[in-house]
Amino acid sequence: MNVIITGCNRGIGKAMVEVFASAGYNIWACARKATLEYEVWLKDTAEEAGVWIKPIYFELTDTEAINAGIQTIIDEGQSIDVLVNNAGISTVGLLSMSKVEDIEHLFAVNYFAMLRIIQKVSKKMARQRKGCIINMGSIAGIEPQPGKIAYGSSKAAVMMMTKCLAKELGPMGIRVNAIAPGPIETEMIHQYKDDMLEKLASESSLRRLGKKEEIAQVALFLASEQASYINGEIIKVDGGR
Ligand SMILES: NC(=O)c1ccc[n+]([C@@H]2O[C@H](COP(=O)([O-])OP(=O)(O)OC[C@H]3O[C@@H](n4cnc5c(N)ncnc54)[C@H](OP(=O)(O)O)[C@@H]3O)[C@@H](O)[C@H]2O)c1
Repeated sequence: MNVIITGCNRGIGKAMVEVFASAGYNIWACARKATLEYEVWLKDTAEEAGVWIKPIYFELTDTEAINAGIQTIIDEGQSIDVLVNNAGISTVGLLSMSKVEDIEHLFAVNYFAMLRIIQKVSKKMARQRKGCIINMGSIAGIEPQPGKIAYGSSKAAVMMMTKCLAKELGPMGIRVNAIAPGPIETEMIHQYKDDMLEKLASESSLRRLGKKEEIAQVALFLASEQASYINGEIIKVDGGR
């Protein structure tokens, strides 16, 4: 089985590479830019798991780069069984303090880039009459919060896109689901101070932040045959907020 994952160089995406490789998936591991450290890590992970992992590079605000990166994958002629749209950015800011241009940038990364990738990959999956797409939403797109107008709205859009596409693509054998994590221990939430992190942890019934592997495992399940009748769902993974 072959999977495309975006945002693989750190955070949840990096955990996904480890979890999918361990489960025997070959991976096109997408990242923004090449580094030696990243390529060595991919090579070591692939060798350890006995799979292939190929780095693919594109910046999510660069349409031509996205198209070229995905076309490179399609031109290999192999099946694309799973697409995990993981990469994303987060901001916090009240509307009165925000520039609309910055919100547009956030939507370009979190929403429009995802849409472009899905548009290209789903055509290939439709020819295969089979595929699975997993999009990264967030509880920020479900629970309204001051300061989250940009990020929360972008993730709400991702989750509605997921549900609409599940209806459009389901008849072609393509399942489309989203994961909505609560706060997960990655660099993304290190924009918050310690007292805010403690507050976020205390809001979970489990009284802790999530681990990136706990999101990666849910993606692996959604990709698997065990989830073959799950379509158009938003799976909250938040420790019970
Ligand atoms: N952590 C959380 O609490 C949490 C909660 C809910 C949802 N999520 C979602 O989960 C996903 C992964 O989050 P994370 O916590 O792993 O975040 P992270 O540690 O900040 O990693 C974000 C990833 O996205 C990539 N990326 C960002 N902007 C990009 C761009 N313009 N072009 C190409 N790649 C870009 C980053 O690449 P660079 O290293 O090059 O920047 C990095 O690989 C995101 O969609 C996020 O919204 C996270």
